Amino acid sequence: MTAVTSPLEALPGGTSAASLQAAEAGLAWWTDAIIYQIYPRSFTDANGDGIGDLPGIALRLPYLKRLGVDALWLSPFYQSPQADAGYDVADYRAVDPLFGTLEDFDRLLHEAHGLGIKVIVDLVPNHSSDEHAWFQAALKSPPGSAERARYLFRDGRGANGELPPNNWQSVFGGQAWSRASGDRQWYLHLFDSKQPDLNWDNPQVRAEFEEVLRFWLDRGVDGFRVDVAHGLVKDSELPDAEHRKENGILVGPMWDQDGVHEIYRAWRRILDEYPGERMMVAEAVVGSHSRPNYLRPDEMQQAFNFDYLLLEGWEAAAFRNVIDASLALSAAVDATTTWVTSNHDVVRAPSRYGLSRPGAHPKGIDAAGEQPDEALGLRRARALALLTLALPGSAYIYQGEELGLPEHTTLETHYRQDPMFIRTRGADIGRDGCRVPLPWEAQAPSLGFGPGDRSWLPQPAAYARYAADRQEGVAGSTLELYRQMLQLRREHALGKGQLRWIDAGRDVLAFDNGDIRVLINFGTEPAELPAGGQVLLSSELLEEPGELPANTAVWLTRP
Ligand code: NOJ
Ligand code: CA
Repeated sequence: MTAVTSPLEALPGGTSAASLQAAEAGLAWWTDAIIYQIYPRSFTDANGDGIGDLPGIALRLPYLKRLGVDALWLSPFYQSPQADAGYDVADYRAVDPLFGTLEDFDRLLHEAHGLGIKVIVDLVPNHSSDEHAWFQAALKSPPGSAERARYLFRDGRGANGELPPNNWQSVFGGQAWSRASGDRQWYLHLFDSKQPDLNWDNPQVRAEFEEVLRFWLDRGVDGFRVDVAHGLVKDSELPDAEHRKENGILVGPMWDQDGVHEIYRAWRRILDEYPGERMMVAEAVVGSHSRPNYLRPDEMQQAFNFDYLLLEGWEAAAFRNVIDASLALSAAVDATTTWVTSNHDVVRAPSRYGLSRPGAHPKGIDAAGEQPDEALGLRRARALALLTLALPGSAYIYQGEELGLPEHTTLETHYRQDPMFIRTRGADIGRDGCRVPLPWEAQAPSLGFGPGDRSWLPQPAAYARYAADRQEGVAGSTLELYRQMLQLRREHALGKGQLRWIDAGRDVLAFDNGDIRVLINFGTEPAELPAGGQVLLSSELLEEPGELPANTAVWLTRP
């Protein structure tokens, strides 16, 4: 094997040099953090009503500490009619009674901090719930009123205004405009009709969200995950759109407008007023050319790496390309990359990589669709984890990923709640299958999700095999693999490191990061392991000495 210089190393001020300097200077916590995403309604149910809650999260803090994560990202737990599982917020300063109370939140934050775990919360600024006091006031106020000006109300087209103001489509299907019953005007909703878009040209909207930020910062949160960060500002003419996708990403006059950046600059100034290192991570589903804009030094510190998440296929070269491109892109703005392979909006990785088109992104899977090869998918997901968590930068883990949990691929129609499923009448199966309550104890009712047998979505029988207690202390289990990865990653400072590719043939990716060598075999035949390196960790049992089986990854001491 011969060493190949990464294009990165040639970059002046690139990731490698920049991170080394930062390491010496004391890196901000988020640059290499492992951030664990909690989807509260499906994590742990403390009171037995079938819905996960904040006290449930508090119960699991020792588990999360043991896993070795640096921070938690909590999906929304705010007051909400739950039309989009809480991404429809009726009161940005209140905890929904489903999830507990503000005191429960404060206690959770305090206890997490006591264990050295940071907490970031979700901020949903593109739209509120239609049950938000502002929207209710707007409906009661006439066209042209100040109350309506906080949203995007417009008269319709057609002789009697009976047609929507433009041709925009909702991301969840159907048109992006609705009329409340008896109302002459239409309002815009890029998502569900219960999620009216706020008007970010309105100073009241800006002022309100700055106060919301302060409300949570004052309570001590370490940052925000900003929902639909590319959507807040629309082309003010609201022109008709083509609804095109570029490289799988929606483009048009409602997305990625330059005006959004001023908002994040204002927020950044607020974050910087607070002690500690408070951060923001953008859910900006934009092309890679545009992602760096969200990462400018006076904007957000992180943006999810959708190129990595959305990559399809199971090929060494494609992974290498996306890794190089991602590192170069963040280096150019002196940020680090955020590696992600699963979240609450996509089919879980073990199931995606078990499809005949590995890594494909179907909009959900149901019993009528292709059923993933569970064993192959898990094997690949474990190998991919060894690749992902050895990369420099920060990484996100979606709850249950550390258990190797697959998607629920046979959830019956009548359980489905995702507005995407409802609005497309099932044409898009939707995201419920990746949101099923976690299995904690194989023998307990609701698999230990709650004290009784209630669970807001049913768990598939297979989940018992994945229960945390079945994996606890079991050599080679996915849970133990993640624990070891996170520990070694920390010990060897891989998140702060630099990547140096090693040429290892068409099907194998190999690189050094610090004193660790990583190899992952994407091929169908065993590959040769370099002599002299000691195996620290492998995604599967290595039965033949010197051989790296197909769909397997290892961490070695650098030979
Ligand atoms: C992105 C969130 O991740 C998703 O769950 C939600 O449905 C949309 N934004 C709308 O808020
Ligand atoms: Ca509950």
